[in-house]
Amino acid sequence: MAYDFDTIAAHYDRMNRLMTFGLDRLWRRHAVREMAGGEVLDVACGTGDMVVELLRQGCTVTGVDLSEEMLAIAKQKTHQAEYMLADVERLPFGDESFDAVTCAFGVRNFVHLERGLNEMLRVLKPGGRMVILELATPDSAIVRPLYNLYTRRIIPWLGNLIAGNREAYTYLPLSIERFPKGKDFLDIIQRSPFRTHNCRHQQLTLGVCRMYTINKEAAVPERPLCH
Ligand SMILES: C[S@@+](CC[C@H](N)C(=O)[O-])C[C@H]1O[C@@H](n2cnc3c(N)ncnc32)[C@H](O)[C@@H]1O
Repeated sequence: MAYDFDTIAAHYDRMNRLMTFGLDRLWRRHAVREMAGGEVLDVACGTGDMVVELLRQGCTVTGVDLSEEMLAIAKQKTHQAEYMLADVERLPFGDESFDAVTCAFGVRNFVHLERGLNEMLRVLKPGGRMVILELATPDSAIVRPLYNLYTRRIIPWLGNLIAGNREAYTYLPLSIERFPKGKDFLDIIQRSPFRTHNCRHQQLTLGVCRMYTINKEAAVPERPLCH
């Protein structure tokens, strides 16, 4: 079952800023620089921070999320986007509807990761780009003990103090540890029936955040062009 973000929506933004020392905003801004404008679908848009960055970049944005409470906060931030309550596994859009698809810190929460990713690729136009941000455990053996101490001890304590919810912020580092990262994540995408190319990933801030850039193959003409 999907984690219910309704319960933490009211404290979600404040916790993000505190936990990441404000880096979450910089990570989203970095991801949005990969966008060339056009119609963008932001999946698992939550409280709309990615939507706001995409609008700043000049994109036309639709945000979808499963949580009504998260969407209610997103709507307070901007009316310039369209919002829909929807599950990524059954996106209410036709094939090849969007120039780009983004998802910030959402894929880790999908119940069926491959189904969600396939849907995101289905609604993406051929030649379009998908950009995904996700948290990860750092590879460095020097950084990892400090990271583990911070995420396993301090974040749950902060979650209790700020959001009154230790459980949700104990789940967070566990879900990060279990989630595939780097090449393992890209391998899952490349198993999709939709063809992709030039897929790459980048480590941000010592690898605690990863950015994945996936390009959907442009449509191939049905018959070779004759000259
Ligand atoms: C960690 S929040 C990320 C929110 C936002 N993208 C951001 O950058 O802060 C994860 C979001 O994913 C949403 N989510 C989880 N599973 C989903 C699904 N199957 N379909 C749509 N949204 C989903 C949750 O409701 C939650 O708002």
